[in-house]
Amino acid sequence: MTSTAWKVWNRDDKVEQRTYKRVTGELPEMECTKQLVSLVGEVYRPGMTVLDVGCAAGHYYHGLRRLDPDIRYSGVDATAAYIDFAKSHFATNPNVQFQVGDIFGLPQDFTGRFDIVFCCNVMLHLPSHDAPLRNLVRAAKSHVFVRTLLAEKTHLSKLLYTDSFGPDCEPSDFAFQNTWSFDSFRKTVASAGGHRIDFLDDRFDAEQINREHADFNRVQSAVTKVQDGVQIAGSKVFEWKWAHVTK
Ligand SMILES: C[S@@+](CC[C@H](N)C(=O)[O-])C[C@H]1O[C@@H](n2cnc3c(N)ncnc32)[C@H](O)[C@@H]1O
Repeated sequence: MTSTAWKVWNRDDKVEQRTYKRVTGELPEMECTKQLVSLVGEVYRPGMTVLDVGCAAGHYYHGLRRLDPDIRYSGVDATAAYIDFAKSHFATNPNVQFQVGDIFGLPQDFTGRFDIVFCCNVMLHLPSHDAPLRNLVRAAKSHVFVRTLLAEKTHLSKLLYTDSFGPDCEPSDFAFQNTWSFDSFRKTVASAGGHRIDFLDDRFDAEQINREHADFNRVQSAVTKVQDGVQIAGSKVFEWKWAHVTK
């Protein structure tokens, strides 16, 4: 794929405006932060390093500090505006590092460098998960946690921010909302070294998600809501799962 139309954050960093508010404490932590902290907490030991890929402005750090106030956290994101905000907000904290980076080509010196690597709510927005997932596995010493949409079948979809199309009839202003199949994740992890992969259900408090939906759905596209226990964003069912790779 040569078009970069899917990189919606490059056109408008407000797509993730809530990350700024979570870093400053204006918004409560996400439901998935609570589960991430619990999952990381099962394997974390003091002194370990964690890498957050697609970290936005670094809001997961606040939750992870509950495990260890001295936790050593690195964040990488492709959007410079989020990393600039994070660097400025956490400027005096010696335990955190941020850098601009692309999950399709993480730096070579990341290989085996981080005890725990996680990547939440990013893979669904990518045109492919294969190289990104391999790169996460490569960067990890022992554990990788990925939260994304996973189901029996891969289901590719595009959320159009505006109904604009190029001469090739392709939309020019959209974000992917792709669901990847469990099998495709298994295959990638098998080819990245044959590591163990477990899939876990997503846990959430529907009331909190719906409160945020009520506050933000007017100003942002496809904010998640919960209906009859099912998470929905825009007109798509969001089948959130966690993949846990153990090396
Ligand atoms: C939906 S946000 C999720 C942010 C955060 N992980 C969270 O769960 O709140 C997707 C993030 O992925 C980042 N991103 C998109 N493409 C990327 C890429 N190729 N490499 C690294 N980060 C990327 C975006 O800049 C954005 O911060």
